[in-house]
Amino acid sequence: MKSVFPYDSVELSPNGREVVILDQSQLPTQEKFLHLTTAEQVFYAITRLKVRGAPAIGIAAAFGLAMCVNRFKTRSLTALENEFLRVKRYLYISRPTAVNLMWSLDRMERCFYATKQGLDAAEEKHAIEVMRNALTAEARAIKAEDVKMCEAISEQGFSLLRPGCGILTHCNAGHLAVSKYGTALGPIYLAQQQGYSPRVYCDETRPLLQGARLTAYELTKAGIDVTLICDNMAASLMAQHKIDFVFVGCDRVAANGDVANKIGTSGVAVLAKHFKVPLYVFAPTSTIDLDCVSGSEIIIEERPAFEVTDMYFSKRMAPKGVRVYNPAFDITPASLITGIVTEKGIIKPREIKNLKKQK
Ligand code: MRU
Repeated sequence: MKSVFPYDSVELSPNGREVVILDQSQLPTQEKFLHLTTAEQVFYAITRLKVRGAPAIGIAAAFGLAMCVNRFKTRSLTALENEFLRVKRYLYISRPTAVNLMWSLDRMERCFYATKQGLDAAEEKHAIEVMRNALTAEARAIKAEDVKMCEAISEQGFSLLRPGCGILTHCNAGHLAVSKYGTALGPIYLAQQQGYSPRVYCDETRPLLQGARLTAYELTKAGIDVTLICDNMAASLMAQHKIDFVFVGCDRVAANGDVANKIGTSGVAVLAKHFKVPLYVFAPTSTIDLDCVSGSEIIIEERPAFEVTDMYFSKRMAPKGVRVYNPAFDITPASLITGIVTEKGIIKPREIKNLKKQK
């Protein structure tokens, strides 16, 4: 699969001492890269959506942890361990909904203790260096595996498409949200490369406009036929038979097949059911949380009111002091989902519970 972008949205510098991200909060008007060198900067980048999208958040957190360990000056493995755990706990709560964040940080912790336990007498003298190398390699492996996952999930999704079909997408589950290519947008890139000329409709995705600012940006850059619509226009397009599929990403899949994704996804799913448009959720296995019984257990992040009233408006659009409810995600019940596309295959939501737990 070819990438249309010369850069990735999240990287670790070759010396492992900087996390380099494309600042997604500045898109589409500015392509600005940030070089993060502290845990606080990584935390801030995640909370302010400078790096966003479930897999990209997980990768950024793992890179952040490796970067902090590489920068921490000490000769004591115990001091390094304390610093590792401090940064891990801190980044763990930067956002609550996307399980990739916790999944990748827990994986880094398993790597820390496996490395510590495996140190032989010769290595103990160089324990700090061995640990730094192991954690840096683990963080890079998390990203490399995500690239492979995106390729596989794109192939799976591509198998559903036919030339000239219309796809509605919500939020951004593309190149920017992952290591490379995307999940829900991956099949669309592949379809374009195979000459299928897909037509994409992208919801603007209120209030933070991930669809307008990010999906429209990356698909336009790739020369894909994309039409931007306001979130309340999807029903009208479905009624006109312009949409053959809905493809969306996700932040967490519960064991019963319920899915958390960007606020507005469940509304699109209700419409898709009404208009008999198949809706597929793209979920790498790193996003599947078998410990979570159903969608009602998923913590939905609530974000500040100014994102609804002021942000992206040239002047305030609501009266001062008005009460605002700003949930960043919603739960789409399993019953509204046609299939969950994973890198291993396309499965029915009710089959999620049969998957093997992802370590
Ligand atoms: O708040 P965001 O922009 O991080 O929300 C992102 C989404 O909801 C995406 O659809 C999801 O993370 C999947 S990214 C492949």
